[in-house]
Amino acid sequence: MAFGVKEDNPVLKGGSKWSNLSIIFLFLSISCFVVPATGFALKYCRISYNNAICSNVKLHAVPQDIPSTVTGFDLSGNKISKIEVSDFKNLPILTVLDLGGNNISQIDKGAFANLISLNKLNLNGNKLTKLEDGTFDGLSNLTELRIKSNKITAVASSSFKPLTNLKTLDISFNVLKDITIVSSIFQHLPRLQELIIKKSYITIFQSWELTNTSVALASLDLSQNPIRVFRFTADVFPNLTRLNLGDSPRKKNITWEVRNKTFLRVATLDISELCLPLNDTKTLLESFDTSLTTLRMNKIKRNVTALINVSCTIPTLTTLKLQNNNLNSSDLFQACINLTEIDLAENQIKNVSDKSFRTLRGLMILSLRKNKLSAVPSVIRTIPTLVELDLSSNLISALDCHDFANMTRLKELSLKNNTITELKECLFKDLIRLQVLRLQTNKITKLNSAFSKHLPYLERLHLNGNQLDCIKEGYFKGLQGLKNLSLYENKITRLGKNSFIGMKNLTDMLLQYNKITDKGIHKSSFKDLINLRTLDLRENQIFYGASSALRDPPFSLLSRLESLSLLSQHHRKKSPGLPCNILEGLTNLLYFNIRNTELLSLRVGMFNYTPQLQHLDISSNDLSDVSPDLFAPIQNLTTLYISRTNLLSLDFLLKANLSKLQYMQARKNQFSVIREDVINSLPALEYVDLQGNSFTCDCDNALFVQWVENNNQTQVFDAYNFVCNYPPNVKGMKLLDLDMRSCTVDTGFICFVSTTCTILLFMLTSFIYHFLRWQMVYAYYLFLALLLDKKNKKSQNQYDAFISYNTHDEPWVVREMLPKLEGEQGWKLCLHHRDFQPGRSIIDNITDAIYGSRKTICVVSRKYLESEWCSREIQAASFRLFEEQKDVLIMVFLEEIPMSHLAPYYRMRKLLKRRTYLSWPKARDHAELFWEKVRQALETNEDPNDDRFLLRVVDKP
Ligand SMILES: *[C@@H]1O[C@H](CO)[C@@H](O)[C@H](O)[C@H]1NC(C)=O
Ligand SMILES: *[C@@H]1O[C@H](CO)[C@@H](O)[C@H](O)[C@H]1NC(C)=O
Ligand SMILES: *[C@@H]1O[C@H](CO)[C@@H](O)[C@H](O)[C@H]1NC(C)=O
Ligand SMILES: *[C@@H]1O[C@H](CO)[C@@H](O)[C@H](O)[C@H]1NC(C)=O
Repeated sequence: MAFGVKEDNPVLKGGSKWSNLSIIFLFLSISCFVVPATGFALKYCRISYNNAICSNVKLHAVPQDIPSTVTGFDLSGNKISKIEVSDFKNLPILTVLDLGGNNISQIDKGAFANLISLNKLNLNGNKLTKLEDGTFDGLSNLTELRIKSNKITAVASSSFKPLTNLKTLDISFNVLKDITIVSSIFQHLPRLQELIIKKSYITIFQSWELTNTSVALASLDLSQNPIRVFRFTADVFPNLTRLNLGDSPRKKNITWEVRNKTFLRVATLDISELCLPLNDTKTLLESFDTSLTTLRMNKIKRNVTALINVSCTIPTLTTLKLQNNNLNSSDLFQACINLTEIDLAENQIKNVSDKSFRTLRGLMILSLRKNKLSAVPSVIRTIPTLVELDLSSNLISALDCHDFANMTRLKELSLKNNTITELKECLFKDLIRLQVLRLQTNKITKLNSAFSKHLPYLERLHLNGNQLDCIKEGYFKGLQGLKNLSLYENKITRLGKNSFIGMKNLTDMLLQYNKITDKGIHKSSFKDLINLRTLDLRENQIFYGASSALRDPPFSLLSRLESLSLLSQHHRKKSPGLPCNILEGLTNLLYFNIRNTELLSLRVGMFNYTPQLQHLDISSNDLSDVSPDLFAPIQNLTTLYISRTNLLSLDFLLKANLSKLQYMQARKNQFSVIREDVINSLPALEYVDLQGNSFTCDCDNALFVQWVENNNQTQVFDAYNFVCNYPPNVKGMKLLDLDMRSCTVDTGFICFVSTTCTILLFMLTSFIYHFLRWQMVYAYYLFLALLLDKKNKKSQNQYDAFISYNTHDEPWVVREMLPKLEGEQGWKLCLHHRDFQPGRSIIDNITDAIYGSRKTICVVSRKYLESEWCSREIQAASFRLFEEQKDVLIMVFLEEIPMSHLAPYYRMRKLLKRRTYLSWPKARDHAELFWEKVRQALETNEDPNDDRFLLRVVDKP
C-alpha cells in the first residue's frame, strides 16, 4: 500500500476519492465526519505535571496545540519576535507563563487578555523598547512580572493599570532614565511589594516626583544605578523594609537628603560598592539608625574599619556583611556589641586576632568562607555563643583536638573545600549539639574514631569528595541520630561488617562514585539500618557474574528501603542477569534502577520480593527480550524506563498487565510497529517516549498513528519527529506526515459511504421508476419465475409444448397448427384459451404452462410483439432457457418482421441473434417441410448444444 503526503485540509482529504460522486453528497456527509481533534502528541513541546515545556526549541511562534488544561507554559529560549492576540486564546487556567530569552519586540494590545488566571509572567531578555497601553490588559490576577534585560525606554502612562494585583515587578537592566516611568509604576500598582530596578540609568530619586504613597512597598532594589540625588522629603514608602543602593557605578558625591529619620524605617540596607567620602556615608547611615538590623557593605574597600565603627553605633544593627573587602585581619569589631551575625567571606584574612569579637556578647553566626586561614583560629573557641561557623574554602590542612573546644552550642559547622587529611578522635568531643557537619571536598583518608563516640545530635554528615577507601566496623557508632550520610566520590572498595551499627535513624546513604565491588557489601554491612529509605550505589563495581542466586542477599535487612540505585556498574563483562534473589527482603522498595549495568537478561522471579515497586529503570542493557512474567509480581508499576535495551517490540506488555503504568520511556530501541492491543493493555498510560525508534510506515502502524493523533489521555513525546525506516520509498520521512487514513475505516468514512449510498439508491429508484418502470415489473416476475422454477423443478411435464400466441393469430393456430401438431404428429399442446385453469391468476397459469411443458412455441407476429403478456411469456421461457441451460424455446414467425422493427423488443432481438427460428411466410410453399422442422424441434432432447435438427430456414439476421 502506498501513501500520499497528507493534504492540508483533513476534511476534504477523506472524501477525495469520492469527490467524483458529487459535491452535493459531500456537504450532506460532512456533518458526520470526525474532524481530527487536537491530538496529544505535541509538535514541539511536552507536558510534564500540567506544564507545557517548549524551551529552547527554536520556535518562531507560539505553538497552538497546547491543551487548555496546562497551568504552566515555558517558551523560554526560543526565537519568538511577536506576541499576537490569538497566541494565548484558550488557556484559562494558566498560572505561569515564561517568555524569557526570546526576540519579542512587539506585544499586541490585549495579547494576554484571555489569561485570566495568570500569576507569573516572565518577559526577561527580550527586545521590548516600549510598554504600550493595553499590553497587559486582562492580567488582573498577575502577581509577578519580570521584564528585565529588555531595551525599554518608554512606558505608556497606563500600561501598568490593569495589573491591580501585582506584587513583584522586576524591570531591571532597561533604560528608565526618566523618573516619570518609575512614577507611573507606583501610581498604578497599589499592591506592589517588591520593585527591582537595577541598572536602569536612574540618576535622581526624589520623593516628590512620586505622586502616590506606596503603602505596600516593602522592598526596593535600586542597585547599580548611578544615583546622584536621593531626596526623601515625604513618607512615600511607609512600609519599606529592604533597600538596595549598592553597586553604584558613580564614584563621586551623592546628594543625600532624608528629611526625617522616620521616613525610611528600613531594616535591611545594602550599600555595597558605594564609594562615598566617609562623612557622606556617615550621614547616609544615620538616616537609618532607628530601624536598621542588617547592613551589607560588600566591596567597599576604603575606610572599612571606620565604616564598621560607624555602623556599630546603630543600636538596632545585628547583622553585618562585609564580603570582598580585602580585609586581612578581623580585629575589627572593637566598637560592636550587639552583632549576632558577621559575614567576612571572600576577604584575604590569614589570621584572626584573639581580641576580635571580644566585645560581642551574642555572636551566633560567623562566616570566614573563602579566606586564607591555614588553621582554625583560636579565637573561635572564645565565642561560646556561636551556633553556625563557616570555615569553608580556606587553606586548613590539619585540625587539632582543641579547635572546637567548648563550642557546645554549635549546630552547623562547615569545613568543606579545605585540605584536611585526617580527623582525630578528640576533635568533635565538645560539639554535643552539632546537627550539620560539612567536610566534603577535603583530602581525608582516615576517620579514626572521630565519629565513634561524639556528635550524638548530628543529623547530616557530608564526607563526599574525600579519599576514604573503606568503611570499617563501628566508624559511625557515635552518630546515633544521623539521618543523612554522604560518602559519594571517595575511593571506597568495601563496606565492613557492622559498618553502620546503631544508626537506626539513618534514612539516606549516598555511596555513588566509589569502587565498591560485590564482595565489598554484605548483608551485615547494613545491619541496624532499619530506617534506611534511600541507598545510592550508582557508579560502583558491583558485578555478580553468572551466579543465579546469592547465599546472603546483601540488602535483606533493609526492609524499609524505598529507593535502590545500582545504575552504571563498571566492569567490562556482560552478565546473564542479576541473581534472582538480589532484592530479597526489600518489601517496601518503590524505586529500583539498574540502568547501564551490562545485563543480557533479567531473571524471572527477581521482583518476587518487591511487591510495592512503582518505578523501574532497566534502560541501557542489552536485553533484546523481556519476559512478561517478570512483571507479574509488580503490578503497582507506574513508571518504566526501557530505553536502549535492544528490544524489538513492546509485545511483552500484552501479557504483563501493567494496568497502573503511567509513564514509559522507551527510546532508541528497535520498535518498528506499535500494536494497538499493546496500547490498549496500558489503560493508565499518560506519557510515552518512543524517540529514536525506526518505524515501519505502512498500515501496520496506522492504528498507532491514529491513536497518537487523536487520543486525549496519553502524551506521545516528540511524535512529530518519528522517522520512517521502512518501506524504502518513504525512508527518512516523518511517520506522522504520511496519510494512513486509507488503512483504517473510521466512523467518518462509514458515515460518508452510507450517506452517499442512501442518496444514490434514492436517486436510482426515482430514475428507475421514471424510465424503467416496466423493466422492473418484468424483473419482478422473472424473480417469481425463478422461485416457481425451483418449486416446479421436479414436477412432471404435462405437455409437449406450450403455445404462446396473440388472439389475433388464434385462427392460424387453431386451423393450421393444431391439426398438424396435435392431430397428425400427436403432440400434446397447451393453449391458454383451452387449457388454462379458470380462477387462477393469469401469470401463475402462464408460468405453470411454461414449466409444465417441455417446450414453448412462440407464434410471433407484430401483434404478438405488442402484447405485454406475450412478452412476459417469452421472458419466463427465456429465463428458463438460461437458468436450466435447456433449449426450450421454438420461435415461429408468422410475418416477415425486419430486424429494425424488433428494436424496441430488446430481449426478443437478443434471442434472435443467438438462436435460429422458423418462418411461416417463407415456408408456406413447402408446408410439409415446415411442419417436419417443427416436429424435429419438438423432438430434440434438451441439450442446448445439440441443435443438429434445427434447420436453418433463414440465416441469422
Ligand atoms: C484571581 O485571584 C483571586 C484571588 O487569588 C482568586 O480568587 C480568583 O479565582 C482568581 N481568578 C481567576 C480567574 O483565577
Ligand atoms: C573551655 O572552657 C573552660 C572553662 O569554661 C576553660 O577552662 C578551658 O580552657 C576552655 N578550653 C579551651 C580549649 O579554651
Ligand atoms: C531518632 O529519631 C526519632 C524521631 O525523629 C527521635 O525521637 C530520636 O531521638 C532519634 N534518635 C536519636 C538517637 O537521635
Ligand atoms: C477524552 O476522550 C473520551 C472519549 O473519546 C471522552 O469521553 C473524554 O471526555 C475526553 N476527555 C477530555 C478531557 O477531553
